[in-house]
Amino acid sequence: MATSKRINLAVLLLASQVAAQAGFSPPIVQRCPGLMNASNVACVNNYAAVLPYPFARAYASDGVDPENDTFVETSVPSDSSFSLLEDTPFVVFDQARGLDILGSAPELERVFDTRNDSIHEAPVYVPGLNVIIFSLPHQGEYQQRIINLNDTPPTIANYTTNPPVYAVNGGKLYQGMIYWASEASFSFPSPADGSLVQQAPGIYKLDPNTGEVVTLVNNYYGTLLNSPNDVFIDDSGDIFFTDAWYGYAINVTVYPVHAPATYRFRPSTGALNIVENTLGQPNGIGISPDGKTMYISDTGVTNFEGVPKDAVPRYTYDPFGGKYVYAFDINPSPAGGYLTNKRPIWLAETFADDGLHVSREGYILGAAGSGVDVLNEWGELIMRIEVGGDINNMQFAGPDRRDLWLFGPSGIWRVTGLEGIQGMLEE
Ligand SMILES: *[C@@H]1O[C@H](CO)[C@@H](O)[C@H](O)[C@H]1NC(C)=O
Ligand SMILES: *[C@@H]1O[C@H](CO)[C@@H](O)[C@H](O)[C@H]1NC(C)=O
Ligand SMILES: *[C@@H]1O[C@H](CO)[C@@H](O)[C@H](O)[C@H]1NC(C)=O
Ligand SMILES: *[C@@H]1O[C@H](CO)[C@@H](O)[C@H](O)[C@H]1NC(C)=O
Ligand SMILES: *[C@@H]1O[C@H](CO)[C@@H](O)[C@H](O)[C@H]1NC(C)=O
Repeated sequence: MATSKRINLAVLLLASQVAAQAGFSPPIVQRCPGLMNASNVACVNNYAAVLPYPFARAYASDGVDPENDTFVETSVPSDSSFSLLEDTPFVVFDQARGLDILGSAPELERVFDTRNDSIHEAPVYVPGLNVIIFSLPHQGEYQQRIINLNDTPPTIANYTTNPPVYAVNGGKLYQGMIYWASEASFSFPSPADGSLVQQAPGIYKLDPNTGEVVTLVNNYYGTLLNSPNDVFIDDSGDIFFTDAWYGYAINVTVYPVHAPATYRFRPSTGALNIVENTLGQPNGIGISPDGKTMYISDTGVTNFEGVPKDAVPRYTYDPFGGKYVYAFDINPSPAGGYLTNKRPIWLAETFADDGLHVSREGYILGAAGSGVDVLNEWGELIMRIEVGGDINNMQFAGPDRRDLWLFGPSGIWRVTGLEGIQGMLEE
């Protein structure tokens, strides 16, 4: 009698402990409805809003490599379902929208090995040629790379423009031309003939059919720009670009001249105007399909203070720095779009969002740490694509812009089979 009472008490205690964790109903993670057999997709229930105790995540603020400060590497020993997230590339948080995006058979594959000591940026798909041109912003890399999608399997080669451009970090397609944000002010030897090429940080226009490059803007009233990082061209042809400090960080230009900021450049008049100056390090930039909202990521997690000049890269990771995606309203004016109503819509759950792309449906894709955040226009995390190593940027490619290529020191990856998401025709 006494024994069974004790057991009942224990059962009651256990039940009340579980009940106290309101909202927690195991499993936290499961194979997704409709994709029960897909071992590369996992669904996280209720955003894992309540984790069973004990749970622990390795914090960059404790000195852990920020690459390891991730949701998927969180330790949740009392719910074995969490281990489904290990080595699962597609992690879905919003099941209705996430599974619609993924379709019935999404695949992630690593297509190319590249320099594992360099970031990869500015991927642009050129539909007429069926190629992707991208860049390795790195000391001594004086040319870009081209992926030829006409070949089976795709091939990769060096790509040199005329004149060559050093340290391209951002690129977008507009009316058949590629607009490049380039970071370098240091002269360099032409990969074509060894002659010395002079350059300043600025915006350059490449005709991908001829390889010819023209300079659109290379100064602000005689001062150097810091290092334009990423660009977006609006419907009227105005060019918005972020001007961060990473050219100095990778030692392709001088110590920054201006505070980090975002600018609008109007090619038809040559006018260069600041539009935003409150982000730590403005980085990726994109515009919603209706042209009314601008998204800019802030990678202020990179801290330039106190880093010696003989170090490269010249920043440390500040876990309390900016790792946000901001949305702004774009308002028309005779001078071009100006920004109001700044609001943070996303705090990166890992590292910080670098390259940003907006899909045709209005989803915001951000390259963050070892994967891609897929957010809706309000900043809700719909899903993540986890590649297990650093990526910096991405680009939709192919005739329907349905293949998503990912770029970074971890390699060049391709996601195929996506059904509910497409890249914009020009971006
Ligand atoms: C999973 O695979 C099994 C055996 O191959 C099959 O019988 C079942 O219908 C599949 N389930 C789903 C949801 O596709
Ligand atoms: C840190 O992350 C890397 C790359 O994702 C992984 O290979 C490594 O095992 C992780 N280290 C720890 C301690 O989890
Ligand atoms: C990077 O690549 C080099 C060879 O190019 C290799 O020796 C090295 O182990 C690689 N490092 C990592 C972290 O994969
Ligand atoms: C491509 O360029 C890199 C340096 O940017 C050079 O090391 C390599 O040899 C080049 N490859 C070819 C095939 O020319
Ligand atoms: C930075 O670049 C300059 C010019 O190319 C070079 O002289 C210097 O050694 C580089 N510094 C570092 C730390 O790599």
